[in-house]
Amino acid sequence: MTRYEQLQDDLKNAPKTWLVTGVAGFIGSNLLEHLLKMNQTVVGLDNFATGYQHNLNEVRAQVGPDQWQGFSFIEGDIRNLQDCQKACKGVDYVLHQAALGSVPRSINDPITTDRTNIGGFLNMLVAARDAEVASFTYAASSSTYGDHPALPKLEQNIGKPLSPYAVTKYVNELYADVFAKTYGFSTIGLRYFNVFGKRQDPNGAYAAVIPKWAAGMIQGDDIFINGDGETSRDFCFIENAVQANLLAATAGQSAKNEVYNVAVGDRTTLNELFKALQSALAENRKSYGKTPVYQDFRAGDVRHSQADVSKAENKLGYAPQYRIKEGIIKAMPWYIENVG
Ligand SMILES: NC(=O)c1ccc[n+]([C@@H]2O[C@H](COP(=O)([O-])OP(=O)(O)OC[C@H]3O[C@@H](n4cnc5c(N)ncnc54)[C@H](O)[C@@H]3O)[C@@H](O)[C@H]2O)c1
Repeated sequence: MTRYEQLQDDLKNAPKTWLVTGVAGFIGSNLLEHLLKMNQTVVGLDNFATGYQHNLNEVRAQVGPDQWQGFSFIEGDIRNLQDCQKACKGVDYVLHQAALGSVPRSINDPITTDRTNIGGFLNMLVAARDAEVASFTYAASSSTYGDHPALPKLEQNIGKPLSPYAVTKYVNELYADVFAKTYGFSTIGLRYFNVFGKRQDPNGAYAAVIPKWAAGMIQGDDIFINGDGETSRDFCFIENAVQANLLAATAGQSAKNEVYNVAVGDRTTLNELFKALQSALAENRKSYGKTPVYQDFRAGDVRHSQADVSKAENKLGYAPQYRIKEGIIKAMPWYIENVG
């Protein structure tokens, strides 16, 4: 039995109370679904800035009425300390996901990104510290590697941030570190690398590449590639990210006050991704025959990204179960059903 399997059994036998911020978003709603399926009690906080009621409705349909009873939702804003205090009350484990994602959004509106991702993060740290929660796990980001050229990415080797978003995620790590030193409040940061899966928003100017392309292909639209298509990423299926959160939340003290890469350790170019999505469509008896349209590189983007996940493997017992192609094949039916 893996550490993750054991953990899921233990949680089912002795349920806990969790706070998931950003619960109406992509990663938050997937965490919610997993936790409720294990009969946990979950408090969710969201202001619907980029999350949706329909994500929560979908989770309700997936888990059924009894497990849904375990969920209570607070419509609130992490920029408001009182909302964070209310949400942290009586909670064992915090999974802090709420933030404004997207590099381009942060370039267009650095102030709102800052207030949410730094001010909101600090509120959550203070509220969770004062509520004496057992653990605080937060969404960090691979963007923190910035302009550091080395591949694969090792947690200790970071460069300079390339966008306002990257600054905010790095500041989260600095605050987390300072809270450990000054208040003895322990946290774990998970540096996600391009997470994808069901309920990731395909719409809008700031959509991530996989849902955007999946939706575009289903609708027969042109697919635009920024740059020459050789830009690469370590795409991480949502199930791996959920696993990392559960392991981090329940980790022992020796694993705390650290940040961990959450990815697979693979590197996939945008050209390869295009083909993988075409094949996943074909598996669902659909096709996309157009060739991609190449356009300029996008400001603030890192050229290559690939994680070394050995720290998470060694200290958290993380063992990613899905590589990109398996994840895309699992995610595609959701896009076919929900797009268009
Ligand atoms: N998806 C990825 O590939 C990825 C990669 C690196 C880091 N992250 C981080 O993971 C976290 C979750 O990302 P996601 O992909 O699920 O994005 P998402 O936009 O789907 O979810 C974020 C959620 O936070 C909520 N939110 C935003 N501002 C808020 C506020 N002021 N108060 C309360 N709720 C607020 C949104 O409404 C949304 O539901 C974010 O912190 C993001 O920066 C994601």
